[in-house]
Amino acid sequence: MRVTAAVLAAGRGERFGGDKTSAALGDKPVWRWSFDSLLAHPRIDSVGLVVAPGSTHLYDLSEAAFIIEGGESRQESSRRAAEAGDGDIVVIHDAARPFVVPAVVDRVVEAIERVGAAAPAVSVPDTLRFRGSAGYELIDRSKTVAMQTPQGARRNVLMAAHASADRIYTDEIALIEAMGAPYEIVEGDARSFKITTQTDMERARAWAGGGETRTGFGYDIHPFSADPARPLMLGGVRFEGAGLAGHSDADVVIHAVVDALLGAASLGDIGQHFPNTDPRWSNAPSSTFLGHARSELAKSGWSIVNVDIALIGEKPKVMPRSQEIRRVLAEILGVQPDRVNLKATTNEGLGSLGRAEGIAVHAVATIRR
Ligand code: CTP
Ligand code: MG
Repeated sequence: MRVTAAVLAAGRGERFGGDKTSAALGDKPVWRWSFDSLLAHPRIDSVGLVVAPGSTHLYDLSEAAFIIEGGESRQESSRRAAEAGDGDIVVIHDAARPFVVPAVVDRVVEAIERVGAAAPAVSVPDTLRFRGSAGYELIDRSKTVAMQTPQGARRNVLMAAHASADRIYTDEIALIEAMGAPYEIVEGDARSFKITTQTDMERARAWAGGGETRTGFGYDIHPFSADPARPLMLGGVRFEGAGLAGHSDADVVIHAVVDALLGAASLGDIGQHFPNTDPRWSNAPSSTFLGHARSELAKSGWSIVNVDIALIGEKPKVMPRSQEIRRVLAEILGVQPDRVNLKATTNEGLGSLGRAEGIAVHAVATIRR
């Protein structure tokens, strides 16, 4: 029997915080891993791709049997895939599961041929509780499994299950079960885990190997303001005394860190992202800039390895509050505080910095994807 596989990559990745299936994993996007593995599998005859509405033009892929737009729900994306697939059997795979284990595909296809529909499942390692009305009730873990993909059925069975769906389910086998058709659960594989959160992506990246690491450098300097009422912000933390002059809140630490991060990702500099001629950024908290840099990096698939900061100034004494600064910056960057370091030195009375006319900061950031 001819088998078509469809890779579902039309989700919004809300729990991940962005488009996870097109994020880079090693040397190719996440969706491409399962697409290539399924294409290379001897039991699979053709592979199609289901992508976010309005994005088909971004996928130039002659090997694909079809590239179609998905729907609002995973189920609607799956229905469209079943319609587009021309095999006697259609299996649906989550693009968010990059590591396809060939033996699992064999088991699924073999069971579909025999029974009509099949899905892989794995036992759950954690102790489980059910969030019941009377609190958290213990579940007998030995009786539970977690569902994986690819799962599917003879194409006519899958189409009928979609046509008769009474509600939205999160996988194909639940639909098929609701219709009352027979199915088989086969052994899945823990390696075929789904990328749902950033932590899952870190694990996938560690497994994929290769990858790319880059480093960026940032520098900024601000003079002290003549206005004694201006708050002094350093690393997102307010200090006693008159602040620094500048268009935004003049947080010289954050500005240097933003430039280091943007630099590492080849995304230009802070001035290009937040022109100081733009009234929107007048007295703006620099934490906004840092949050923006973080999401720009995430969009290109980068995660932050570490940031190291060197501050040069005669006053104030920042090191007594370095833990606080590291915590605040780490929070904005979505990393553990041990990935952010702060050092400070005076300029030993030399030059303008030595005369306490301002504060300068150097920062280095390393990122990975
Ligand atoms: N998917 C899809 N169409 C949808 C929703 C999901 O093709 N409307 C795909 C996703 O791209 C993913 C797979 O189905 O490969 C599994 O879904 P899930 O992990 O829930 O991904 P998202 O829906 O993108 O994530 P979230 O639920 O966190 O928003
Ligand atoms: Mg979802």
